[in-house]
Amino acid sequence: MTENKKNFYITTPIYYANDRPHIGHAYTTLIGDVFARFYRKKNGENLVFFVTGLDEHGSKVAKSALASGFSPQEYVDRMAEIYQTTWKDLNISYDEFFRTTNPKHKQVVQEYLGNLFDKGYIYKAKYKGLYCVGCEKFLASEEIKSGLCIYHQTTPLTEQEEENYFLRLKDLSASISKALKEKKYVVLPAERLSEVWGRIEQGLNDVSISRTGVGWGIPVPWDINHTVYVWVDALLNYFSATRIYSDREKFWPPSLQLMAKDILWFHAIVWEGLLLARNLELPKVIYAHGFFTINGLKMSKSIGNIIDPQSLIKEYGCDGARYLIITAFTFGNDGDISASKFKEKYNADLANGIGNLVSRIARLCENIAIDPIIKTQNSNLEAEIESFMKSYRPDEALKSIWKEVMMLNRRIDEDCPWALSRDALKDHLGAYVQKILEIANNLEPFLPNTAMRIIEIFSNRNISKPPVLFARKK
Ligand code: MSP
Repeated sequence: MTENKKNFYITTPIYYANDRPHIGHAYTTLIGDVFARFYRKKNGENLVFFVTGLDEHGSKVAKSALASGFSPQEYVDRMAEIYQTTWKDLNISYDEFFRTTNPKHKQVVQEYLGNLFDKGYIYKAKYKGLYCVGCEKFLASEEIKSGLCIYHQTTPLTEQEEENYFLRLKDLSASISKALKEKKYVVLPAERLSEVWGRIEQGLNDVSISRTGVGWGIPVPWDINHTVYVWVDALLNYFSATRIYSDREKFWPPSLQLMAKDILWFHAIVWEGLLLARNLELPKVIYAHGFFTINGLKMSKSIGNIIDPQSLIKEYGCDGARYLIITAFTFGNDGDISASKFKEKYNADLANGIGNLVSRIARLCENIAIDPIIKTQNSNLEAEIESFMKSYRPDEALKSIWKEVMMLNRRIDEDCPWALSRDALKDHLGAYVQKILEIANNLEPFLPNTAMRIIEIFSNRNISKPPVLFARKK
């Protein structure tokens, strides 16, 4: 296999099906989409497998279903539709929308855990601790602040004592740290890696893999009084997705697993423990990006500051929303999103930026036949974008395209093409069209519709009516 012919398996978390998607879910999914589109273009259409989906079991989902008057299955079916519609409207090109209520997933999970049980990796014991339904887990002391979960400050913790099955994570900790040291898997960015080392160095305890009293879940195959702990059920989706659909095994292991830092523990330690116990190859990269706030506050229903991606799409269009979400804050860091800045940014970068650039070049081309340029050469821009994508900086990659947009706009101002003779103008136009096509080609993973429209416009020999790509907002 040559370097540029590699399989690329990319995942997002499967989101809890207890509620509709918000802009936080859209953020990770969109970044996943950018990587998927980028690698499809670079490696080949069929060499990318991009999976997102829903985490449909567990007490949190069951509670929401009960409150809404639907059965859990009806409830998650409705949520799955809402999520899928949102992702369609945001032009998310997933290859699989994974749902943990898929009966084939149940078989994979039962077989997987049954095998670990037979090999002695799982045992039964009593557990007592403070459980956070928001996180769906027993909390470690550093995750509790003033008696509440650091991530779910409004949800009271419940003290629970129950009999659980446990995975011998403590015994697996030497293999986990060896794998991390030998870079069998990589945790990014650097602060997240330090966090993972911190947890390992503190010493790992065995982790629960089952619950009692949670009916909405996959039964533990050797003990029907237990259901599989929702986190284990959910993590195994990444494996299941390569087993239950034909021709997907070749994608194992995942090349890039995206999430935010809230769920790093499960993805960078527990997940590897589960895989090492089965001698499976580990994911190549676990990337836990930052958490953003909205105008300085955590997004939450009770504060009422949740941004629905659909409202952004309605206001700014699909690519407008994609642009605003991707560039909202630095990928990898924590950040703040200010919805009031969206309009300003939309007008500056989209309406006056690329939109104006396309329409002024198109206007100059009116009634002048430009020979269509079929393929642009490999350019510095392409190399720059590739280098940013390989270092997990999709936001910087998009910014480098915007630098070119601004430069081309400036160049046209300086050239004053409107003052040129028809022949001189023709030469300039060839160069402008070449450049705008180069921009469009590189823009495809980020703003696919805009890229396609630009390519269509300038592949036409006679441009008659200058298009409006992004109407200015008042
Ligand atoms: N169901 C689990 C994941 C199981 S994966 C095996 C879960 N679901 S979740 O609905 O709570 O989604 C959490 C993820 O949503 C985060 O890790 C992140 O990808 C995304 N985000 C949710 N809110 C966000 C922000 N405010 N900021 C950044 N990412 C956000 O955990």
